Amino acid sequence: MFRLALLACFATANAYLWPNPALDQVDSLLYEILPGTTGIASFVQPCNTFSAFGGTNSGRSNAADWIRTAYHDMATHNITDGTGGMDASIRFAEEQARLENPGTGFGNTLSVLAGFSTRYVSIADILAIGTVIAVEECGGPQIPFRDGRVDATEPNFPGVPEPEQPLLPALPSC
Ligand SMILES: *[C@@H]1O[C@H](CO)[C@@H](O)[C@H](O)[C@H]1NC(C)=O
Repeated sequence: MFRLALLACFATANAYLWPNPALDQVDSLLYEILPGTTGIASFVQPCNTFSAFGGTNSGRSNAADWIRTAYHDMATHNITDGTGGMDASIRFAEEQARLENPGTGFGNTLSVLAGFSTRYVSIADILAIGTVIAVEECGGPQIPFRDGRVDATEPNFPGVPEPEQPLLPALPSC
């Protein structure tokens, strides 16, 4: 009986309760965006804004760095054993030092975005929110967003495909 009561308690804890600080913060970050305001969007307005190196490195943009960072964070996901994925493990120096993660774009991304993380919104969720906003500010579609990513406490296993590698294993020839 006690066990049943405990289960019921957990079920209630998982249901949406208002106010919910985590969802309120995610909502605010995603939707309370006005042109010219501070916040995540101000770093990708206009879409070719670049923050690093005093903003002078023409041809690079925060938007591209953010999307690339999210990709390199996510691409370690191993569907078989459930490791890796979008968990902000790209913030670890060990991952950034790997040949599969070249360049200064990850540092640029994290220097802008990581500061938006709070006790309720993980860095991984912020990287995903940054990607949603960057794509939208650059004229792309609005990407559906779900929160709740948990930040890794250590680097993931390597596994980001390098530019010359195929995304999928070669198909058998007929
Ligand atoms: C994914 O995990 C499985 C089980 O641990 C392992 O056998 C496999 O090699 C991993 N795949 C990659 C691409 O690392």
